[in-house]
Amino acid sequence: MEYKTTQIFGLPIIKFESEYLLNDDELNFLYNTDYEKSKPQNSAYISINKDILVENKLSNLKQKFFDCATKYVQDIICVNNQFAMTHSWAAKSNKEHHQHNHKNSIINVVYYAQAEKAQLKFTRLKNLITEAYDFDLDYQSYNIFNAFETMISVKSGDFVLFPGHLIHTGYNLSDKEKITVAANFFIKGQVGFENNVSGLVI
Ligand SMILES: [Fe+2]
Repeated sequence: MEYKTTQIFGLPIIKFESEYLLNDDELNFLYNTDYEKSKPQNSAYISINKDILVENKLSNLKQKFFDCATKYVQDIICVNNQFAMTHSWAAKSNKEHHQHNHKNSIINVVYYAQAEKAQLKFTRLKNLITEAYDFDLDYQSYNIFNAFETMISVKSGDFVLFPGHLIHTGYNLSDKEKITVAANFFIKGQVGFENNVSGLVI
């Protein structure tokens, strides 16, 4: 499984391109599941089912989520700790999926089930200088070290993984509805060490 990496001030974002395309059964299941617009300011519709990847029809897709998350844990975080999928849901949007992050989520995995042409923007409020001193600097140009935003292009079949607390916004650049499936992963089992006075079981 090959992936591309980028970052925003050191927070790693990885993308698997065209990793998995849904068959008609899987796509119809996502179309026909029930959605809600949970908050007035939200611009997307979210599935009522918040464990959607537990459904039998999505078992192959669920395995892909775990394969991608395992790569992120082994290659990027590089730890032996175990991670569990805590929630999974589908989202539909026609234009913009409002800016948000994922609380109680260490790794967020988002899969583009149907996205003819879309973008995902990541935002951080402080860069390497403004994190310590909130200077209002006169920037000549932006790069991966100083930019407050970074945008990646995404399409059907792609997976993108990033830290759950990272603020992001989705954009649908086509006239066709964008459908994504996302999942939160959280650490599980033994964390820390008794000798470090840090041992926990989650
Ligand atoms: Fe999200």
